[in-house]
Amino acid sequence: MLIAGNWKMFKTAAQTISFCAELRKRLHGVRDVEVVVCPPYTSLDEAVRVLAGSGIEVFAQNAHWEREGAFTGEIAPAMLAEIGVTGSLVAHSERRQLFAETDGSSARRIGGALDAGLRVIACVGETETEREAGETENVLRRQVEAIAAAVDEEDRNRLAVAYEPVWAIGTGRTATPEQAEEAHALIRSLLDVPLLYGGSVKPENADELLTQPDVDGALVGGASLEVDSFVAICEAGARASRS
Ligand code: PGA
Repeated sequence: MLIAGNWKMFKTAAQTISFCAELRKRLHGVRDVEVVVCPPYTSLDEAVRVLAGSGIEVFAQNAHWEREGAFTGEIAPAMLAEIGVTGSLVAHSERRQLFAETDGSSARRIGGALDAGLRVIACVGETETEREAGETENVLRRQVEAIAAAVDEEDRNRLAVAYEPVWAIGTGRTATPEQAEEAHALIRSLLDVPLLYGGSVKPENADELLTQPDVDGALVGGASLEVDSFVAICEAGARASRS
């Protein structure tokens, strides 16, 4: 069971230090769940330092595919690895929708991050319009096949996929456990790696989502920004992995 907190563009370096110190204390002794935080680039170094030795891993929110080069505004996977970051999100729907990320560029980012030894959480999910048009299966199939094609067999153990229906992100509208399970079962049939659900995961709905057979964890946005709610979701993850 893997619970990852996607902070998006929230928390300064100073806020990161106090949050991570508190998180580390509160998760001490919580077993059976792997915990990851994904701070903004400017907070990665502080998060790594404060969480060192705690077992809580620090991932970036994106990574470029090249090792270096003329790519203004981008960060190379090796740069992340050097400061102790152990993985990255790739292809979050906000990257796809607001920053022109495509299946092709996502695949290159995933390949580059895995080549540099990082773990990857690759995100997929349909928009509301696609769901209403009955396109969910086609969209997921296309996105997951692009990811699968980018990953060598020997790197698969460092890959997870997050299913995040776009209509459920930041809206308070969670997919029902049945909708999540249906999408996860489809994704599993295409690519058998750990599958996280994301989209308005909260302490109140975490147990029923995380106990679905094909749900192996959660990618949490808003509720990962407060220690109380994030710890409660991590505890739900621990319960689900024991059940
Ligand atoms: P949310 O975001 O939990 O705030 O819906 C999830 C995500 O975007 O990863």
